[in-house]
Amino acid sequence: MTILENISLKAYNTFGIDVHAKRFITITSFYELQQLLKTEKDFFLISGGSNMLLTKDIETLVVHIDIRGISIDCQENDSVYLTVNAGENWHEFVLWCIAENYGGLENLSLIPGCVGTCPIQNIGAYGVEVKDTITKVNALEIETNKLVSFSNETCNFGYRNSIFKNEAKGKYILTSVSFKLTTKEHQLTTSYGAIEKELALYSIKTPTLKNISDAVIAIRKSKLPDPKEIGNSGSFFKNPVISKTQFLALQKENPEIPNYSISETEIKIPAGWLVEQSGFKGKRFGDAGVHEKQALVLVNYGNATGNEVFQLAEKIQKTVLEKFEISLEIEVNVID
Ligand code: EPU
Repeated sequence: MTILENISLKAYNTFGIDVHAKRFITITSFYELQQLLKTEKDFFLISGGSNMLLTKDIETLVVHIDIRGISIDCQENDSVYLTVNAGENWHEFVLWCIAENYGGLENLSLIPGCVGTCPIQNIGAYGVEVKDTITKVNALEIETNKLVSFSNETCNFGYRNSIFKNEAKGKYILTSVSFKLTTKEHQLTTSYGAIEKELALYSIKTPTLKNISDAVIAIRKSKLPDPKEIGNSGSFFKNPVISKTQFLALQKENPEIPNYSISETEIKIPAGWLVEQSGFKGKRFGDAGVHEKQALVLVNYGNATGNEVFQLAEKIQKTVLEKFEISLEIEVNVID
């Protein structure tokens, strides 16, 4: 456990923003974390750094959570119960599950980040959310230095949301996540249009977990920039939900507006469509830009600062508001 000084965080955030940590420590075990908490109470946590926009140097101690390990808790009937430590890479874990024939996470292939942060924003893609398989989230309570567990219900999961973004924010360090996955008779979710098309392309009628994962990987690669090549944090905005009345008025002027019904009175609109219609798709302002294939993703072409990316986000929000009277909410955690 060594505290390093003046460390660049460029390699620790998928946006590739070059800010510095005054002090930086990597934690590789639960024991180390408990030891650290005895003396440090004020710190900034980083794990995969895949859902944050850093806008300035970090003055407090940066704690890089790199606790690894997967344990099989028990196996019964058609299910397996696993506990996965926070520092495990998400996509590698998904691939491991597929190799072991454990079902439930295949639609969440290729999402950047680590296991420990997946519950915070309840990662979701192609008709599946991680909340569907989480049984428990295990965390260290900062104030008491004690291990606590949140049941699925107490996590208050919602669309890109959980208790960890709300009342529990800043009070816990997530150390591991427990999952229940299927070992037989997997419940596959293939209804999402893009997956159906991809499977049809290869004439796959009874897909395996691997077929679905491969389809998702191909779709994501075709639309989303690889953070190793172009810095980004995936969807920068949430897809907004508007009233049916507002939607019908918008649809009159934009008959092609894509939409998903949420309830009798509410409609979700893809933020990517709103950003594209506002003229930002593929636009570049210095090294900050909007991805050319998916307007929901803001990118760093190399040396953009966090503030440059944030200013671009504000410009987009203002234009979308003026044009459509819809407020876009930022999904990424902006650190300012
Ligand atoms: N669209 C456009 N222009 C664009 C992008 C999208 O018009 O540049 C329209 C298209 O009509 C498209 C529709 O938006 O059919 C929906 O696009 P897509 O299927 O790509 O999904 P999304 O709503 O843009 C959401 C998630 C993604 C997730 C995909 C697939 C949010 C904020 N984003 O995107 O999540 O991978 O669905 O399930 O909910 C992430 O959170 O980082 C992320 C990538």
